[in-house]
Amino acid sequence: MGWSPRMLPFASCLPGSLQLWALLLLLLGTAYPQDSEEPDSYTECTDGYEWDPDSQHCRDVNECLTIPEACKGEMKCINHYGGYLCLPRSAAVINDLHGEGPPPPVPPAQHPNTCPPGYEPDQQESCVDVDECAQALHDCRPSQDCHNLPGSYQCTCPDGYRKIGPECVDIDECRYRYCQHRCVNLPGSFRCQCEPGFQLGPNNRSCVDVNECDMGAPCEQRCFNSYGTFLCRCNQGYELHRDGFSCSDIDECSYSSYLCQYRCVNEPGRFSCHCPQGYQLLATRLCQDIDECESGAHQCSEAQTCVNFHGGYRCVDTNRCVEPYIQVSDNRCLCPASNPLCREQPSSIVHRYMSITSERSVPADVFQIQATSVYPGAYNAFQIRAGNSQGDFYIRQINNVSAMLVLARPVTGPREYVLDLEMVTLNSLMSYRASSVLRLTIFVGAYAF
Ligand SMILES: *[C@@H]1O[C@H](CO)[C@@H](O)[C@H](O)[C@H]1NC(C)=O
Ligand SMILES: *[C@@H]1O[C@H](CO)[C@@H](O)[C@H](O)[C@H]1NC(C)=O
Repeated sequence: MGWSPRMLPFASCLPGSLQLWALLLLLLGTAYPQDSEEPDSYTECTDGYEWDPDSQHCRDVNECLTIPEACKGEMKCINHYGGYLCLPRSAAVINDLHGEGPPPPVPPAQHPNTCPPGYEPDQQESCVDVDECAQALHDCRPSQDCHNLPGSYQCTCPDGYRKIGPECVDIDECRYRYCQHRCVNLPGSFRCQCEPGFQLGPNNRSCVDVNECDMGAPCEQRCFNSYGTFLCRCNQGYELHRDGFSCSDIDECSYSSYLCQYRCVNEPGRFSCHCPQGYQLLATRLCQDIDECESGAHQCSEAQTCVNFHGGYRCVDTNRCVEPYIQVSDNRCLCPASNPLCREQPSSIVHRYMSITSERSVPADVFQIQATSVYPGAYNAFQIRAGNSQGDFYIRQINNVSAMLVLARPVTGPREYVLDLEMVTLNSLMSYRASSVLRLTIFVGAYAF
């Protein structure tokens, strides 16, 4: 016995037919699964079968033909799926044992359910799968999903749940740090959230910076995006309000009184300097006197001479000579010695004009007088002959031929002085004395510039 691995262990000499029937039923049951179609790619066949390349199936091997003396003595050989049997010659054998096709289905009619577990007979006398899930024949928990399988069913947990003991319990995905910022666990799933200033990226997990400036950030003037937030800034001349969004004009003029030489005017986002009439802005903050005489903006007549001063101008008669003086040049008047009226008068009067600003620090040299002719041995004395009743000026002699007019007291304009500066020339050698006058008109402007 047992001389071939293909020989079933129990397929030796069997004495009685009763035992044979029982064995045959058992054989049919075990052979059934091997008879189902194999996948195309499957070329390994189980014991008792061989690969048939034509039909692409595993084919039963007829051991009764291939094995010499498969059964000994009076026993007859009966091929069978996956093996063979040796039976007494007298034994009755059912025909289907020799067939090459699938084994016969289990006869349904006689018994209520002869199908394998999980199957039930149908009208065509074959076995069909029972859908335990649909027929409530399962014992899945309410927390579990029931899945029908051929011949059985399966209780599984829904996505996002995990079996703990008999029940399915929600998985807290947030414990696994799937989210870059914040994680919200949900039944069966989770959701990532981002801190303010960020939004979920395309993968729904990472957070990307939101450019608030492109999305209508409420900055009044300038917006700067930064990581997770944004900043409002203001244009030059504005300052950010305490709310962080709006901008308010800076009153530059209130910062310093030195921003402008004359007047500071605040404007939205900037300031500007203004100058009084008669002045023009020099660069941005300084005021410069307009020389109306130079610019042609004066209205002096032909018979007049234009005299500019700080903040304005004056038209003076070109001929300012009063009897007995006669005009000898533009600004010089002469009293002829031949005229008796001139005996006690300065021989000449020269008209000059000058302009000073207010609030000069004193003492201040304002005008230098110079003798035009220098005679050897002559001495020139200088004095203020008229126009200095307040004592605002004095004369400082420099040498024999020149002297300085000095402002002694601070003066504030607008104001006008007419000073007669007398030069007395003494020549001891020739017993000569002569007097001439410089009539100096001093305009004091209203401002310190
Ligand atoms: C992200 O979430 C949206 C909305 O819930 C969804 O439509 C999209 O498919 C998700 N993207 C990924 C990569 O999961
Ligand atoms: C100035 O006058 C004095 C006194 O008359 C005389 O001695 C001196 O030489 C004069 N100087 C000049 C530079 O003329």
